[in-house]
Amino acid sequence: MAPSIDRTLWRLVYRSDSCIDHADTESLDEIFRTSVTNNRRDGITGCLALPDGKFVQVIEGARSKVGALMDRIRADVRHRELAVLDEWAIQNRLFTGWAMARPDPTPLNDQAFRIITRTGGGAQVTGLLSGLTEQTETLFRSGSW
Ligand SMILES: Cc1cc2nc3c(=O)[nH]c(=O)nc-3n(C[C@H](O)[C@H](O)[C@H](O)COP(=O)(O)O)c2cc1C
Repeated sequence: MAPSIDRTLWRLVYRSDSCIDHADTESLDEIFRTSVTNNRRDGITGCLALPDGKFVQVIEGARSKVGALMDRIRADVRHRELAVLDEWAIQNRLFTGWAMARPDPTPLNDQAFRIITRTGGGAQVTGLLSGLTEQTETLFRSGSW
């Protein structure tokens, strides 16, 4: 029997244009604070990167929870032109332990940066952002952040 929609583990990746100036750290921090609180409650993991005036987010969790979160995110006036790059069923999470990681895209080379901001599909973007999140974690752990 197929697993119920609620038990299916799901990943969704989208990109949007930020209506918040990315120098406005207070407003950005507010998004992360809300996200971490709600995502812990809802069993959501993932990451949100802010390259070049855009938001690029990976969301993982029970399919119904991902859907409910996307309804809220789509209605949010702090961004526009939201495009879902891909969504698919997954066996395992890549962002375990991260209610919403904040990978820093600055170490990416030009090609990888273009993939994230313009050309990449969901799987490619997920791979790059999960690599960046691991790097961030390693730097934190080693105390060099
Ligand atoms: C780029 C972006 C990413 C967001 N990501 C999340 C998220 O991962 N989880 C979340 O709960 N809200 C997220 N939000 C906020 C939601 O749009 C919404 O404001 C919030 O979930 C409402 O939560 P509240 O009812 O607890 O205030 C995000 C908003 C933006 C603009």
